[in-house]
Amino acid sequence: MRVLVLGSGGREHALARALHRDPAVTALHCAPGNPGTAEIAANHQLDPTDPAAVTELAQRLSVSLVVVGPEVVLMAGVGDALREAGIPCFGPDRAAARIEGSKAFAKEVMAAAGVPTAAAHVCETSSQADAALDAFGPPYVVKDDGLAAGKGVVVTEDRDAASEHAAACERVVIEEYLDGPEVSLFALCDGENAVPLMPAQDFKRARDGDEGPNTGGMGAYTPLPWAPPGLVDEVMATVVQPVVDEMRRRETPYVGVLYVGLALTSQGVRVVEFNARFGDPETQVVLDRLATPVATLLQACAIGGLDPETRLDWHPGAAVTVVVAAEGYPAAPVKGDPITGLDEANAVEGAYVLHAGTSTDEEGRLVANGGRVLNVVGTGAALPEARAAAYEAVSKIGLRGSHHRTDIARAALETM
Ligand code: AMP
Ligand code: GLY
Repeated sequence: MRVLVLGSGGREHALARALHRDPAVTALHCAPGNPGTAEIAANHQLDPTDPAAVTELAQRLSVSLVVVGPEVVLMAGVGDALREAGIPCFGPDRAAARIEGSKAFAKEVMAAAGVPTAAAHVCETSSQADAALDAFGPPYVVKDDGLAAGKGVVVTEDRDAASEHAAACERVVIEEYLDGPEVSLFALCDGENAVPLMPAQDFKRARDGDEGPNTGGMGAYTPLPWAPPGLVDEVMATVVQPVVDEMRRRETPYVGVLYVGLALTSQGVRVVEFNARFGDPETQVVLDRLATPVATLLQACAIGGLDPETRLDWHPGAAVTVVVAAEGYPAAPVKGDPITGLDEANAVEGAYVLHAGTSTDEEGRLVANGGRVLNVVGTGAALPEARAAAYEAVSKIGLRGSHHRTDIARAALETM
């Protein structure tokens, strides 16, 4: 199978790595990819949000599967263009990707499908927003309706900060605060059936102890020793299948991965958000554990014919990833500083480094080129070993001004 991966982050490096391991994959291409994917795939410089350019490349490379990483690619209609050209695409059409692209649309689908989520008001004026904030009370949850790379959400006790964020957005969703730990569950969907991957936990805030601004995610781990047994089955039955059915009913079948962001509240499981693509950095740990070859699975979703009885195989043990972020991330990441210590980090037993926001400069040096620069992955027999490997490898990395959280997966150890 000839495969093309779209995107350039750590998630795409992890996808490329998993596809590279699959003996069914005979040719692996990335567009644009990054210096990490260049080691295992052919990179092609092109704008992945350009549907015509992507279709032309996929045809020229004779690929039989395109795997889409980022949501902006989906929202640009790349999935539509590929399917129109008869090229199997893992990733929904633009209409179905609105489940991520518009928080108001996601709420509408959940209401129609009877999916449990936070009560919410969609507001377009500041007086509507003020009324909603007063109705729910603190802590306030204010979400920009459009795509904001995980940074359009403000959760705060500060009424003025909540109003300010609402005023800065054109259309805003104000909702009930959900207490309880968060879980990310990914389901592979072919428009009709769905198969779950292993749940993971992400760390959204920039600083230790869940302090600082929301980010795209500063680290992740799997498995979750504290997750209630039966969680995955419950979410498949009460969230994923009803959403897949509802999208099909609307004639916008959902093909790709449905990312379900959940809160395990005192009232039960609630959906916090949907994404129309793999989570970043949760994918880095989930795919690390997946033993079932991934290419055939993703292709089955893309062409229809995913067997709902599919039981995936998982490597025993655990994986932890720590994001090394550039100085100033998330507000204003500094680019261009050289990165050192990758070989030493990769030499740590059980650990390896995925490229997330890197490039090479004119002298051929590896430099930071984005907010989240590297994803250091540690694996081991259980979470303590995986975590130790990840942090030992992080200690080998040099990047001026960089920062990372030191508490990824720490609280989970106490639940074991
Ligand atoms: P979202 O982009 O909707 O996932 O929001 C980003 C983050 O904000 C989530 O991962 C949560 O940590 C937090 N968040 C979103 N909605 C809520 C909510 N209703 N209650 C509490 N926290 C929330
Ligand atoms: N890690 C959160 C996300 O991918 O949206």
